Amino acid sequence: MVDYGSGTGGSAIELLRVLDERGTSIELVLVDPLVSWFAKARDLLGHRNDVHFELSISQDESGKTVFRELDEMLAGRKADVIISSSTLHLIPEKELAGLSRQFAGCLVPGGVFVWYSGDVESGMRPPSAACLHDPYRLVRECLRDDVSRQAMLAKMREEDAARAERRVDRIFPIPFTIDLIQDALADAGFTGEISDHIVSFSNEDAERFILVPRLAEIAAPLIEGDERDTAIRGAIGEALLHMREVGTASEGGYRSHWLYGLHTIPPLR
Ligand SMILES: C[S@@+](CC[C@H](N)C(=O)[O-])C[C@H]1O[C@@H](n2cnc3c(N)ncnc32)[C@H](O)[C@@H]1O
Repeated sequence: MVDYGSGTGGSAIELLRVLDERGTSIELVLVDPLVSWFAKARDLLGHRNDVHFELSISQDESGKTVFRELDEMLAGRKADVIISSSTLHLIPEKELAGLSRQFAGCLVPGGVFVWYSGDVESGMRPPSAACLHDPYRLVRECLRDDVSRQAMLAKMREEDAARAERRVDRIFPIPFTIDLIQDALADAGFTGEISDHIVSFSNEDAERFILVPRLAEIAAPLIEGDERDTAIRGAIGEALLHMREVGTASEGGYRSHWLYGLHTIPPLR
């Protein structure tokens, strides 16, 4: 089994817990491009000899960072199942087709690809729920013209400021629509089905999430610390208030719409 975009291993740990309880053994390959999060996964799961780690980036001859092909990471072995939790929405749109082909090529006949994401747009989303990262995109909009932030940007060289702003915009990209994933998977030979579910997040969870250092970069170039945290707390408060007004949140928190995909490669006849 492959966990594509395993991060710190959160989903893998849950999966292994359930399988251990059932007495089912698997070989699990964790794949992720983020060195720091992957180091945490190694801390948590490195003691298990049924778990393997493949960092999915490397440097090409010119020193440029490139993504490794799944086939290379599996050394030609085929997986029965590939899972990808909370990761597909982070794949650039233009990479979805190639990645789907890689998944199809790395599965045995009859193999399965299972994924879920809370930040993919679809006609299935009811008006009472938002995409998972909508509050944090609103935080970005609230802080875009923040006076202290703008004053710091003004002190930077114009091109550096523009680069810094592009970096911040990439933290929570505008969600693409489910048909892009469905088309890419269908073109790669998968048949499948999508289901959905509403998940509630409390105001405290939303605030805790956006204050995670990597994500709190959304307020950059405000320096990490009290000023940045205060600006973010104010902005998430405004964002959640706006969501209450448009009906995607209530007093205690907001509702997010999650999509779940189950896709199969045809078995051999
Ligand atoms: C929200 S985390 C999910 C982690 C884990 N699957 C879980 O459910 O806890 C998303 C993961 O996708 C990885 N990721 C981001 N961009 C990616 C890309 N272009 N290709 C593959 N993985 C990517 C990140 O490094 C991160 O670990």
